[in-house]
Amino acid sequence: MNQRPITVAICGFGSRGGDAYASYAHYFPEQIKIVAMADPDPEKRAEARREYGVAPEYCFENGDQLLAAPKLADVMIIATMDTQHICYALPALRKGYHLLLEKPISPSLQECLQLREEAHRQNRIVVVCHVLRYTPFYQKIHELLAQNAIGKLQTLEASENVAYWHFAHSFVRGNWRRSDESSPLILQKSCHDMDILRWLAGVRCLRLSSYGSLDWFKEENGPKPGAMRCLDGCPAKDSCPYDCEKIYISSQKTGIRAGHNGWPCNVVAINPTEEKLYKALRSGPYGRCVYHCDNDVADHQTVQMEFEGGITASFTLSAFTENCYRTLRATGSAGELEGNMAENTIHLCLFGQPEQVIKLDSLDDRFAGHGGGDFRMMDSLYHLLQDGGSQALTSIDASVESHVMAMAAEYSRLHKGESVELEQFVRDCL
Ligand SMILES: NC(=O)c1ccc[n+]([C@@H]2O[C@H](COP(=O)([O-])OP(=O)(O)OC[C@H]3O[C@@H](n4cnc5c(N)ncnc54)[C@H](O)[C@@H]3O)[C@@H](O)[C@H]2O)c1
Repeated sequence: MNQRPITVAICGFGSRGGDAYASYAHYFPEQIKIVAMADPDPEKRAEARREYGVAPEYCFENGDQLLAAPKLADVMIIATMDTQHICYALPALRKGYHLLLEKPISPSLQECLQLREEAHRQNRIVVVCHVLRYTPFYQKIHELLAQNAIGKLQTLEASENVAYWHFAHSFVRGNWRRSDESSPLILQKSCHDMDILRWLAGVRCLRLSSYGSLDWFKEENGPKPGAMRCLDGCPAKDSCPYDCEKIYISSQKTGIRAGHNGWPCNVVAINPTEEKLYKALRSGPYGRCVYHCDNDVADHQTVQMEFEGGITASFTLSAFTENCYRTLRATGSAGELEGNMAENTIHLCLFGQPEQVIKLDSLDDRFAGHGGGDFRMMDSLYHLLQDGGSQALTSIDASVESHVMAMAAEYSRLHKGESVELEQFVRDCL
């Protein structure tokens, strides 16, 4: 067996490419070596040279330049923005790279299917970053359901609690606020949840319907009098939970004064300090009043689903929660289980018997990202390539299904909850 580290080229060296995935090479240099990267931001190219020893001639200004060079690595990590995945993924496959591809694969169903075909044609591995499947929390629930621990599965109930500050940061002021520039919320944020429900159900989703809207983060809900920017003397600032100064400067949970210099502060300013943050908040997008942004994605949404075998599922996403976490409840013919991912605990109740509480091991700090999912996915990629496996847990084939579900849900939401048959939906899109 070849024991050299697998070599990686990273296209898009931002929060995901540069922080979540590149950092794996720091902890596990025997597994992964970063040999090339591309990012238009000179600070990110400098970081790649400094932190990971990437040769200057292999630090490119964009993905086109990286792809114009000969094949430089075993794997390309594609972590550019949502609409810039496919334009790099297709040529990278044709060049012979395996891919670690950020979700969503593409906001276009045709492009998702095109990529799936190309991966098969080129016989390359495509791991889609549905990181939740790799977490101990969902792996344990999957194992219990696959063993019929609660009998025949009947229902699944999932919730995604985004947290008010995270929602304001990413989906009102930030990069994912507009569906035409990135992708609709249900695809961008919840293709993860569609993927988990499909995986736990163990069978295909047949039909679904969805409701939801952008209800709150609109001009008519803003304070009167107010201001276009929090730091421009807004009279409602003290009582507004979305005030940018609270989120990025003074909050115990997220603010720089409490020592939080990673995400989300490092999205507002690179290597953030209080001074740099104030400067960015005075003029940049993250200092805008949440009621006066150009956002259009929904701030709450539900999806109702029917899977093969009569399994039903419901999913609710809300911006309006204090904390950021997911929950899952499953009922079956012989029992039920319930879990909260933030607590990493599952309550299992078999009818007529005492409840069992399954506490999953607390995670090593290095594995903290996405409940351990980020690094476990990287570990799995390494072993897949070293051991010559062909099917990733989050393969392109598996991942296209969740994208179809999310796209159909968005269609339904925009059509007053119309029930959508998924097979027909795919045929109509082609
Ligand atoms: N798997 C997950 O759980 C998860 C979580 C968050 C984000 N994401 C996805 O990851 C992707 C990246 O998100 P992010 O938060 O890292 O964004 P980001 O803005 O921090 O990173 C994107 C990077 O791409 C760079 N870039 C822009 N144009 C480029 C080009 N032409 N060639 C190469 N690089 C280019 C930018 O300069 C930036 O550094 C998005 O598609 C997002 O949906 C996935």
